Amino acid sequence: MIRVFDTPAQLAKQAAEQIINIARQSVIERDSFTIALSGGGTPRETYRLLAEENPYHITFPWQKTHFFWGDERPVPPDHPDSCYLMAHQAMLSKVPVSEGNVHRIKAELSPEVAAAEYEAELRACDVLVKEELPRFDLILLGFGSEGHTASLFPGTKALAEKDQWVIPNWVGKLYSMRITLTAPVINQAAHVLFLVTGREKALALKGTLEGLYEPEQMPAQLIQPRGTLTYFLDQEAASALSTETLT
Ligand code: 6PG
Repeated sequence: MIRVFDTPAQLAKQAAEQIINIARQSVIERDSFTIALSGGGTPRETYRLLAEENPYHITFPWQKTHFFWGDERPVPPDHPDSCYLMAHQAMLSKVPVSEGNVHRIKAELSPEVAAAEYEAELRACDVLVKEELPRFDLILLGFGSEGHTASLFPGTKALAEKDQWVIPNWVGKLYSMRITLTAPVINQAAHVLFLVTGREKALALKGTLEGLYEPEQMPAQLIQPRGTLTYFLDQEAASALSTETLT
């Protein structure tokens, strides 16, 4: 499903509503809520709203929520590039979440060790429903201007990974390693929600949603979850999409 909002502020507000609705339903069903957060800048306002403004702050089931991340940069948790730090500053430092319920990727370690430790943490986490793969209640995803999501970048090794849950991924264009959930894990989620704003995303989004199936070039095409798939877009990001796609 695709929903288009006039502004990033309206998108953030609706995203907060959507997250809380899924959280409360998860708590009703299983007395817990597992969410994998996205990095980047787009979700920051949504995280801030959840933490600072009512009714979000008071209705969110903070004590029953386990926070995870979809990916991380190879930096310590106090580094400005850290996905963890952005969520900590915008939300987690302001809410009554139990420390043991924040499952960050220990990216201060080598990418290989960080990935292995994070996968071990997922396997050990008893609130994560597991069949073959872990099933997050909700995975938030961003979208890069060239079509990447999480740290699944075009032409990178991680795109082909079918067995491991978390892997280190060399991203040549950034000249950097990343640590990322793999597509099979993301596709196991009960709900996947993309938050995408900005005209610089419009063409890659058109390619992803309307172009040929070429996930090597458009990695977000790999994201076809068994649960719900929703794109929250602002007008700018949606500006190149056809009417058929938007109805
Ligand atoms: C990251 C994210 C990445 C991000 C996109 C969009 O670690 O950077 O996981 O996938 O969501 O690059 O980033 P913006 O929201 O800043 O445009």
